[in-house]
Amino acid sequence: MLLVKAARDARVKAYAPYSQFKVGAAIRAASGAIYQGVNVENVAYPEGTCAEAGAIAAMVMGGETEIAEVAVIADSPSPVPPCGGCRQKLAEFAGKDVKVTLATLQGEVMETTVGALLPGAFGTGHMVSPSEDGM
Ligand code: THU
Repeated sequence: MLLVKAARDARVKAYAPYSQFKVGAAIRAASGAIYQGVNVENVAYPEGTCAEAGAIAAMVMGGETEIAEVAVIADSPSPVPPCGGCRQKLAEFAGKDVKVTLATLQGEVMETTVGALLPGAFGTGHMVSPSEDGM
């Protein structure tokens, strides 16, 4: 699995001195290019960022805004699902059917989709006002 390997290769570069929990993420974008990301923690804990966010930032920097597939890996007893915020971040650039592979270093794999991870997602359609004055 190419994308899981890309996530695994990225993971070693994670900056996680506080949790010691290194996460790697990889996104295959519409062009076929692969973008990697890692979690980057901060001494002010809430300022840390997730691996998925890093991969998304790399993709946008690469000039792409369409996710075709995602993989996330961590050294965990079971495949680690993206946090709530990352689910919304992925949904910004991915259709409901986009495959998300969650993996452990030991080789356990769980496959899901962006739609399954974030049912009932808030989207642009919710901001279309049915009334004329927008009230
Ligand atoms: N983390 C990620 O990078 N992605 C996830 O999907 C789950 C959590 C990071 C955030 C933090 O640096 C560490 O894992 C522990 O929560």
